[in-house]
Amino acid sequence: MSLGGSAEAVSASELSEKELAEIGLRFEVDGEIGTITLDRPGKRNAQTFATWSALARIGESLPSQVRVVVVKGEGPSFSAGIDLRMFTPEGVPGQGSFASVASLEEGDFEKRIADAQRGFLWLRRPDIVSIAAVQGHAIGAGFQLALACDLRVVADDVRFCMKEPALGLVPDLTGTKPLVDLVGVPRAIELCLTARTVGADEAVRLGLAELAVPVAELGQAVQDLAAALLATDRGAATATKRLLQAAPGRTLTEQAAAERAEQVVRIRTLFASG
Ligand code: CAA
Repeated sequence: MSLGGSAEAVSASELSEKELAEIGLRFEVDGEIGTITLDRPGKRNAQTFATWSALARIGESLPSQVRVVVVKGEGPSFSAGIDLRMFTPEGVPGQGSFASVASLEEGDFEKRIADAQRGFLWLRRPDIVSIAAVQGHAIGAGFQLALACDLRVVADDVRFCMKEPALGLVPDLTGTKPLVDLVGVPRAIELCLTARTVGADEAVRLGLAELAVPVAELGQAVQDLAAALLATDRGAATATKRLLQAAPGRTLTEQAAAERAEQVVRIRTLFASG
């Protein structure tokens, strides 16, 4: 499947179904719901630079009708994080290794990381709501991918772990801010620096997940949530998400002004005659 658009409209940012499969990803659109599936279950959906660049390209070419994006993993684990071959001298074929990127010029090195982060950042766009459906292990980059989504629905066997510091690295796939926003600085320090595992009950208690359900019910729970989100008018949903996302960085007075500005647009859109 080409990711949206007619043959004429195909842009450089679109990947074919076959190209995605080679990277270990699937992308399907059903009406207003787009579903990204990490599809390398035999390797516990380990992620590579190719995964992140493909995620970015899915975001860039997201069909305009899509309002909810579900991110899920095939098999027993959501994702076991970065492909551990990156730590070996051989690396991942065609993508290098940490040893090879370590010798890049600083600007090029940071650009490589920025390219990877682009695969995560679009999931917060105001005009969509992203939901991570997380079962089993979500380690390192897997945890960060779940954190990149607006909402997380977890199975009762979920095991979140921020492993990067234990491997000598920092979490750099945009996960530190949502983690702190959700659990606060002290808990984020504790989770990251101990690399301990968080299960379903604690994840809900800490605000890392909206809902925990039995594994067999994960798909249905996500579908139900998507349907409830889609029942709200798109313009209102987008404007409200924009307001809520900006609220932590504003004063009450600034936020009140932002509410007024958004509401003027809503009421004019809905009620202005002619
Ligand atoms: N990269 C590459 N292959 C992986 C992998 C990974 N991250 N995780 C698992 N696999 C492979 C295993 O090598 C194994 O392959 P083979 O069958 O070919 O031997 C297969 O997946 C199944 O793995 P297990 O037998 O270990 O499966 P399990 O269900 O018993 O255990 C697990 C699952 C707990 C996730 C375990 O596989 C594990 O601990 N994996 C490594 C997790 C990890 O340390 N990830 C790095 C996180 S840090 C990060 O992500 C850094 C960053 O962004 C910069």
